[in-house]
Amino acid sequence: MNNIIETKALGFRYPKQKKFLFEDLNITIQEGEMVAILGSNGSGKSTLLRHFNALSRPKTGTVIVNDQWDTGNSDNWLDIRQIIGLVFQNPENQIVSTIVEEDIAFALENLGFPREEIIKRVDESLKKVGMYDYKKYPPYQLSGGQKQRIGIASILAMRPKAIIFDEATSMLDPEGRSDVLKIIYELNHTYGVTVLMTTHLLDEVVSVDRVIVLNKGRITFDDKPEVVFSNREELEAIGLSIPTVTRLAADLKAAGYLKDNAKTILTKEELIDAIEQDIGVKG
Ligand SMILES: Nc1ncnc2c1ncn2[C@@H]1O[C@H](COP(=O)(O)OP(=O)(O)OP(=O)(O)O)[C@@H](O)[C@H]1O
Ligand SMILES: [Mg+2]
Repeated sequence: MNNIIETKALGFRYPKQKKFLFEDLNITIQEGEMVAILGSNGSGKSTLLRHFNALSRPKTGTVIVNDQWDTGNSDNWLDIRQIIGLVFQNPENQIVSTIVEEDIAFALENLGFPREEIIKRVDESLKKVGMYDYKKYPPYQLSGGQKQRIGIASILAMRPKAIIFDEATSMLDPEGRSDVLKIIYELNHTYGVTVLMTTHLLDEVVSVDRVIVLNKGRITFDDKPEVVFSNREELEAIGLSIPTVTRLAADLKAAGYLKDNAKTILTKEELIDAIEQDIGVKG
């Protein structure tokens, strides 16, 4: 397996800050993984994600992208940013054109892609985010969730190997949020795009492959969601919670309604199964 991102003894501090935010941070992300980075406000999630596509660079140690490009070398930045896309929180900040298809084509045009290739990629990306019918629309007529899907399509047009979603659903209404989240999962599961995401909504990450928890720039957990979310007290101590369903199941276990077995319940379906089995209530 290819290492899409590898930080080796990464050390970083912001200018004018005395303290290092990261010291000796070692993380390897393999191609195809879907990884959530969690942590309370200021724990370093965005800063870490920015290191993955060379928007921030290490003070000490290195970050290697795609097994070959050191982010410290500016000659590599264009290559790095083509294979690692970044979707931000606010969809408004990502829209540059007055027509959806032009918006998707923008970066490709700047890179000098031939016209036929651009048309092909614009159509392909819009289809992947379910926005093909809006190709000729002005973006201002779209909802927040639709704008964010356009933002994702512009990134997809570069055919990246990995996409970073930094709180990409946080400014959307519930419907937009669930549409965008569905696309994020689909990009990974159906198209094999490596996904790195952060969110304050823990319910969004119950089905990822791996959860990395940061606390003050240090990794406190790095494991499957069911393992990480079985540490309720430790997570609460660093200002994090656990997913709603997991919390409900834990309360039902504590109250003696559900068997207190070792399995951590993450999804609604798992909770319904447990209730049917242990309490005997159907549906
Ligand atoms: N441009 C900057 N200059 C100086 N310090 C910064 C800068 N950006 C972030 N920091 C500091 O670095 C630390 C990590 O910030 P970062 O934005 O990476 O955290 P985060 O986990 O993404 O937080 P949030 O959940 O609020 O998005 C914080 O203490 C923050 O105040
Ligand atoms: Mg952040």
